Amino acid sequence: MKYIEVFDQDGLKAMKISEQEAPKNSDFEVKIAVYAVGVNRADILQRLGKYPVPEGVSPTLGLEVAGEIVAIGCQVQGFKKGDRVMALLAGGGYAQFTVVDYRLLMPIPKHLDYIQAAGIPEVFLTAYQTLFILGGVRPKEQVLIHAGASGVGTAAIQLAHVWGAQVSITAGSDEKVRFCEKLGADKAYNYKTQSWSALVWEDTEGKGIDVILDCVGGDYVEKNIDCAAFDGRIVLIGFMANARAQEINLAKILQKRIVLKGSTLRARSLAYKSDLINSFNRDFKAAWATKELKPIIDQVLPWELADQAHQRMKQNLNKGKIILTIS
Ligand SMILES: NC(=O)c1ccc[n+]([C@@H]2O[C@H](COP(=O)([O-])OP(=O)(O)OC[C@H]3O[C@@H](n4cnc5c(N)ncnc54)[C@H](OP(=O)(O)O)[C@@H]3O)[C@@H](O)[C@H]2O)c1
Repeated sequence: MKYIEVFDQDGLKAMKISEQEAPKNSDFEVKIAVYAVGVNRADILQRLGKYPVPEGVSPTLGLEVAGEIVAIGCQVQGFKKGDRVMALLAGGGYAQFTVVDYRLLMPIPKHLDYIQAAGIPEVFLTAYQTLFILGGVRPKEQVLIHAGASGVGTAAIQLAHVWGAQVSITAGSDEKVRFCEKLGADKAYNYKTQSWSALVWEDTEGKGIDVILDCVGGDYVEKNIDCAAFDGRIVLIGFMANARAQEINLAKILQKRIVLKGSTLRARSLAYKSDLINSFNRDFKAAWATKELKPIIDQVLPWELADQAHQRMKQNLNKGKIILTIS
């Protein structure tokens, strides 16, 4: 089969389409003919050697795919050959075929095509895990989502909005701010031109934010603590600015009884991810059917242009997902 290989070229990590043997599915796995794969920040980090592949996982890039089941293990339940599925992967998506445990599959909602479906598993499950499982957001609570126009951000805005939370976001341009407002954000701040932490405090009339999704880190940590509510939950899922925070006033954490958590989905166990998918379906399956939730697609590119997709993402140009089609 064809897959995208990362290789050294003059000290840079280049990509090209190469050939390798197709993976074989085990008893609990299905083999998927991949038609579309979602691009994630993690792919760029992994390509640069900055995001180690968990043990036993395919070293090929790609954390979320959509395609058709072409082979099925004898222990697989609830799925059959020919089913249209989307899958949460720990790797192996930038390829014509991939294998995955059937408990990490979701049927593609009838009205969505493969391209749209490839923009769902990693970002919606990450956003769901962050806001609901780790953040415990309740209807009417205040939620703040950083990088609102990112793949994860666009999923998080919709989930929080559908849940009935009050949604605030930060983003790096007025265009992205308006985009997030259209998607359901009640308040949106351009972090390049506005002091979002102080404005959030004012706009919540001094009550602050109950659940914060932070993928930026650095000086956002202190600002998050400043604008968090009493019993606020701050969930760190990335550190695009900096993995280190210079100033943290621990007294504020105590006074406001703040909980600061971190998580990475990829390294979680099969049982955890499978439970996550089940609770996500329980809470939000209906919202796909009613079209309250939708994958936000920024660009669709053939996989020959994977590098162009990575460059666009690196330059922070995407609003929502970039999808590669696989032929
Ligand atoms: N822990 C987990 O389980 C997990 C899983 C999935 C994703 N993630 C993390 O979630 C984040 C979003 O992933 P994604 O694939 O959805 O990303 P994405 O679509 O590439 O969007 C990332 C956005 O973050 C903003 N950004 C970049 N550098 C920034 C900085 N220094 N300060 C503030 N904002 C910055 C940019 O938007 P602006 O133009 O608005 O600045 C950029 O477009 C990443 O950090 C990723 O690693 C974590």
